[in-house]
Amino acid sequence: MEAELRQKLIDLAIQARQWAYAPYSHYAVGAVVLTDSGKIYEGVNIENAAYPTGICAERVAMFKAISEGERRFKTIVVATDNGGSPCGSCRQVMAEFGLDTEVLIVDVSGKVVMDTTVDQLLPGAFTPKDLH
Ligand code: THU
Repeated sequence: MEAELRQKLIDLAIQARQWAYAPYSHYAVGAVVLTDSGKIYEGVNIENAAYPTGICAERVAMFKAISEGERRFKTIVVATDNGGSPCGSCRQVMAEFGLDTEVLIVDVSGKVVMDTTVDQLLPGAFTPKDLH
């Protein structure tokens, strides 16, 4: 991916954190997905007074894209204060739509803490192939 686009995705993920609804954890997460078709979707974590009802930023971004017909992701960027890692549930949703998707984990300063793939984040994933 060209450096300019990569930087744009990182900046968008960091900026998206401002819209996080995280009154319980105070841990704002921003996520950006770049689809194979070149579209960009942003997401934030959305918490709830009934705690388990909340949802992670990565899944919001992916579900926004999927709900508009997208099925393949080139890159997913996750931005947190400290470069925190995507949770297991988000890794499973990522795996559904492609193990080769690049995942960039960044902190609030824009530092890339990890540049990896879904396959590396969830080795041996259960995927649609397992149902065939
Ligand atoms: N969170 C995310 O949005 N993404 C992750 O991958 C890890 C955790 C959110 C969920 C919750 O709102 C807050 O961070 C603390 O767990």
